[in-house]
This record gives sequence, C-alpha cells and structure tokens, in this order.
Amino acid sequence: MELKILTFPNPRLRIKAKEIKFLDPEIKSNLTKLFDLMYEKDGIGLAATQVGIHQRFFVYDLSEEKNSPKIAINPRIIWKSPEKIIYNEGCLSIPGLRLNVERSKKIKVVWIDENGLEQQKEVEDLESVLFQHEIDHLDGKLIIDKLPKEERKKIIELLY
Ligand code: NI
Repeated sequence: MELKILTFPNPRLRIKAKEIKFLDPEIKSNLTKLFDLMYEKDGIGLAATQVGIHQRFFVYDLSEEKNSPKIAINPRIIWKSPEKIIYNEGCLSIPGLRLNVERSKKIKVVWIDENGLEQQKEVEDLESVLFQHEIDHLDGKLIIDKLPKEERKKIIELLY
C-alpha cells in the first residue's frame, strides 16, 4: 500500500493513535515507507498519524547530511522543563505554514527504538521541539491549534 501525507483539515489527523504492542512486519514495512516520504518531502520528522496510521510511532532525522534515520515507538514525555523555547515550526501536513511555537526547552522522553529496546533521554532545543511536535501528532494535535481562535481563523482563510 502506498502511503500519502494527509493535510489539514483532514479529520483523520485528529484521531488519537494507539500504543503499539508488537513490532509486526506490517509496522516495519510502514516504517520504511515513512522514511522514504519524510526524505522525499525534506522533512525532519513524520508521525504515523500523518499518513493515516493510528499507531504511536514516528520517524525523524536531525542530521545535516540526512543519514541518521531514527524511530520512536510509543514515545512518552516524563518531564518538561519550565524553561521555554520559541521555534519557527513547519509541518508537512500544513504546507505553506510556519509558526512560532512556544514549547519546553528540555524534556525527558522514554520510547522504544527500532530494535525493540527502551530508550530514555533528556533532549533539548530542536530535538525537544521535534519530540513534542510529533507526539502532538500522535495525540491528534497540530501547530495551528496553538494559535488564538481569531488568528487561527485568519490563517485558515489565507491558506484555503
Ligand atoms: Ni507536523
């Protein structure tokens, strides 16, 4: 099955993804397709929700050379710093939009990696922003939700 990136306002972007219990061959094949799509679209991260798969995983690559593919399965934030960071974010599901979004500068995350091993790490800055952005996708949330209602309406009118 070919995967396509869903774009706003597709209601499937709003479905909360379910935890993964087993890393079956279907998930593995979808992971490969997610990486292909992410690299093709020049993204740094792509969540399963964005292709209509409602399972908790995302792929990412923060390296400049785009040669460090990473997978996060069942990612969970267990701590957030009170200190904030504002980062200009884009999203493959809302092409053409970039928004300054305020998030925690540092977070502690737990996830399962591609080998089925649990990882725990404190991440900061762009990596922290990325984890929060992708976990939002798995919860059915988008960057546009961060805007006040009136501003959101204006931007939606501009985009569509
Ligand atoms: Ni996104």
